[in-house]
Amino acid sequence: NMKGAIFDLDGVIVDTAKYHYLAWAKLADELGFKFTEEHNERLKGVSRMRSLDILLEIGGLEFPEAEKVVMADNKNRLYVEYISRLDESELLPGVKAYLTGLRARGVGIALGSASKNAEFILNKLNITELFDAVVDGNKVALAKPDPEVFLIACRELQLLPEECIVFEDAEAGVQAGQAAGMKVVGIGSREVLKEADLVIPGLHVL
Ligand code: BG6
Ligand code: MG
Repeated sequence: NMKGAIFDLDGVIVDTAKYHYLAWAKLADELGFKFTEEHNERLKGVSRMRSLDILLEIGGLEFPEAEKVVMADNKNRLYVEYISRLDESELLPGVKAYLTGLRARGVGIALGSASKNAEFILNKLNITELFDAVVDGNKVALAKPDPEVFLIACRELQLLPEECIVFEDAEAGVQAGQAAGMKVVGIGSREVLKEADLVIPGLHVL
């Protein structure tokens, strides 16, 4: 009996992975190595700075913190350029209908995302009004698989963890939801989302 639904953003509501990929690949290119789409899988659900660390590890490079901050800023500037062109047409199938249906049933709806660009993206997609609470990378200290983001979201909905269901496309996110004591619906493939309570290809099947 679900009273609250907490949605990850990237990969659940909108496919931003392709834009993250283009921006990270450009940085790798400037640093002199190839960053593939397969490598990009490892960045899903992971915070911006942790993503950079993984990318540099793939390239076999190390930099002082101050230079890494500049790299991450440059990557983000390019990423924001891409996502500034987002609109409703890029909502993943079924998102609008499912969220609208939940609202009609009185289910609380929250966003639980690692992204610091979450509010910007929700506005571009014109779905900000569908959320009762938005918890993003600006509000949390501990990255998924830590449960913090989902625990804050559930508290903002004024619900208990066992009353909430998490929707996630990344392995770290599935783990975070379960660590929060919530049931987790995985969006994607069973091979990647082994630990999810249920796996579906997208919200359109619900
Ligand atoms: C997650 C994405 O939602 O947000 C990651 O899956 C991304 O790939 C992370 O690195 C942080 O996003 P941003 O927008 O703050 O750089
Ligand atoms: Mg995701």
